[in-house]
Amino acid sequence: MPKNANAEAAWNYHEATKHSYTSVRTNPHFLDFGNQPLPFKIYPALEPSRMPTEVRQTGVAALSAIAGSVPAQTNAAPDLEAVAQLLYLSAGITRQRKYSGGEIYFRAAACTGALYEVELYLVCRELANLEAGVYHFAPAEFGLRRLRAGDYRSVLVEATGGEPAIVHAPLTIVCTCTYWRNAWKYQARTYRHFGWDNGTMLANLLAVATALGLPAQVVCGFVDATVNGLLDVDSQREVAFSLVALGHDPAISVQATPGALAEISPLGFETVPLSRDEIDYPLMREMHAASSLGSAEEVAAWRGSTRLGNTEIPNFPPPAGPVVRLQPLSDAEMPRDPIEQVILRRGSSRQFARTPISLAQLSTVLDRATRGVAADFVVPNVVPNVQDPMGSQLNHLYLIVHAVDGLDSGAYVFHRGHGALECLKHGNFRDQAGYLGLEQQLPADAAVDFFFLADLRPIFDRLGNRGYRAVQLEAGILGGKLYLAAYAQRLGASGLTFYDDDVTRFFSPHAEGTSAIFLVAVGHSVKRRRLEPE
Ligand SMILES: Cc1cc2nc3c(=O)[nH]c(=O)nc-3n(C[C@H](O)[C@H](O)[C@H](O)COP(=O)(O)O)c2cc1C
Repeated sequence: MPKNANAEAAWNYHEATKHSYTSVRTNPHFLDFGNQPLPFKIYPALEPSRMPTEVRQTGVAALSAIAGSVPAQTNAAPDLEAVAQLLYLSAGITRQRKYSGGEIYFRAAACTGALYEVELYLVCRELANLEAGVYHFAPAEFGLRRLRAGDYRSVLVEATGGEPAIVHAPLTIVCTCTYWRNAWKYQARTYRHFGWDNGTMLANLLAVATALGLPAQVVCGFVDATVNGLLDVDSQREVAFSLVALGHDPAISVQATPGALAEISPLGFETVPLSRDEIDYPLMREMHAASSLGSAEEVAAWRGSTRLGNTEIPNFPPPAGPVVRLQPLSDAEMPRDPIEQVILRRGSSRQFARTPISLAQLSTVLDRATRGVAADFVVPNVVPNVQDPMGSQLNHLYLIVHAVDGLDSGAYVFHRGHGALECLKHGNFRDQAGYLGLEQQLPADAAVDFFFLADLRPIFDRLGNRGYRAVQLEAGILGGKLYLAAYAQRLGASGLTFYDDDVTRFFSPHAEGTSAIFLVAVGHSVKRRRLEPE
């Protein structure tokens, strides 16, 4: 049996990395600022070629861009300017701030601790003003370092078992995650952050791709060793986590080249060490190894398992209690600030005013952010059904509403297929929300807290250990969309961490048996100078 199918490793990892009231008090970890990792991967021997820095305005409203996608039959390929735009608005440096400990280069997407452990690589055919090759994106220089010259897309086709989106993509972006850069602060819980931080970045990337008229598809199924080998990353430290196929060229279909990796020589480029020394957290590498796929056949079978079966979400009952229908703003009513403006405006709220948002704002956030993610782990909506008309979602949204005009305060569960919120209990839960969000003030002061919970059992049955990567990544993508939907309406948002089992308990009995995956708070930000990350 392939290792991935036995989900014991994912269960072990999940249990071992839960936060609880006790665990955070008994963990002797402290931050060694003298050993803080560099936020950039630097290849000293490679000169980056600079990209155009002018941000082209698509003019597409952020609330449209996050909700839509471009059909795959479209004939579309990015040019260098579009590549620059995609990279800048998903992983570029958008602001920098000095603080007591140095300087932080904030990026376009939210990231735990502003530690930026996700690197981006391009694998492309010849594009307008960009030669075919494998490139590393260097945010500090806003440039590309070419690691390999020539068209290597066939390696990705082989690695993904012939995933159609990859076969037809003129460009695929490979996202890798670097353990130590985030584990310096978050230790073994970092593997969860890989999904979150990669996900917020992908929310931006997908929205910008849509605004640029490019089809985009997230691909989680690939032979890990092949993709890591193509990039020549040291997989003890840095690992490919997701791919995004961009554009579509029906005329060109790249053939898989079996054994392609054997013909690819290692690059052996030197990179600047991140820190004086690194601490290894073997639990994460075990989790990664157990969720790795070993062959194109295994990948194809894994992907097949996402296409089979019941499109209804197991164990997710239809509304049983009172429901409130969402009342989203129509296209004509909604704010039309363009996606690039909203991304540049975004920055996690550091304090919320306890002032209400409207039901229309909340409804618009929910409606626009949850219209589906184009990803290979999502069961497409083959047979439309009322429960799940937009294709499956691994995460379910539970809300604590503190201050929404037109909605009683209380705990709710979101029924996506019904466009409705079911009330689980009424009451003022600000104190509980603050506690659940790791005793922080932000979730207590927000207007509404969105908790992501997932039933991991059917996910692991279907996707094995790799389902754990998928569920965290999906949460990050949806969380990133929540951020953008909030900022598009001039609200604020912040991702948050949480006390795992207490979150499940709070939403039980409805959430019985599910696991807490992620948390995003939304409300009116109190403007103040940002000094340092959380
Ligand atoms: C997944 C995730 C979890 C986060 N958790 C917290 C948190 O627990 N507390 C907090 O104050 N900020 C949290 N943040 C916000 C980050 O600190 C913030 O994104 C980072 O400092 C970068 O700043 P920016 O979002 O303003 O660009 C989180 C962000 C993300 C994406």
